[in-house]
Amino acid sequence: MDRQEVIAKTEAFVKESLDGQGAGHDWWHIQRVEDSAARIAESEGADLYIVRLAALLHDIADYKFHAGDEDAGPRIARSWLQSLGLPEGVIEQVCRIIHEVSFRGAGTPVERPSSLEGQVVQDADRLDAIGAIGIARAFSYGGYKGRSLYEPDISPEQHSSFDEYKRNQSPTINHFYEKLLLLRDLMNTETARRIADGRHAYIQEFLGRFFAEWQGRD
Ligand code: ADP
Ligand code: NI
Repeated sequence: MDRQEVIAKTEAFVKESLDGQGAGHDWWHIQRVEDSAARIAESEGADLYIVRLAALLHDIADYKFHAGDEDAGPRIARSWLQSLGLPEGVIEQVCRIIHEVSFRGAGTPVERPSSLEGQVVQDADRLDAIGAIGIARAFSYGGYKGRSLYEPDISPEQHSSFDEYKRNQSPTINHFYEKLLLLRDLMNTETARRIADGRHAYIQEFLGRFFAEWQGRD
């Protein structure tokens, strides 16, 4: 099977597995991450094949939808890639990336993915959480969880552990301070950092207007 066929089959597999999942984790998120990861990979000189496979499979089993099981993603990805008969070296690289890309809360140590390809996928995933689409995804997620937009009496928290981050129930605006505004400075590559600058500024502008309107200003 040639590489193009592997990518096409994996796209079909992921699309079928995630279709209609909602809450910002639909097929379109995967497609945006695949596209921007490919763009970053080209400019950073990363292996495009590994980057595409890992981007496609990076959310195949999100811990939030698998009862806290953080190993489900790499496990499902591995059995899929094995079913295609790919070499163990490729499978190992892709599964390691899937394992390494998840964000684990602001106060927890941030480890860079060990490969350039992993860094690229992580950057692409993070870019999709900021800018206009990031704002839309945050409120979509908050709505799905039944959270309010904003509660003036509840301040943002810096979660000190992954468990605490997973349990958090705070209003959606707090998520901007707990995660989204931190992402720009966490970008691994220069290419992603440049894209993040504009998206970060847009979020800041949005928050400025949100609070102005909240206070009854025009
Ligand atoms: P990713 O696809 O980048 O791995 P996550 O699985 O962490 O992201 O979350 C999916 C989307 O939902 C992201 O856009 C993220 O910002 C948003 N999200 C996650 N947790 C919250 C929250 N507590 N409040 C609002 N939005 C959230
Ligand atoms: Ni993702």
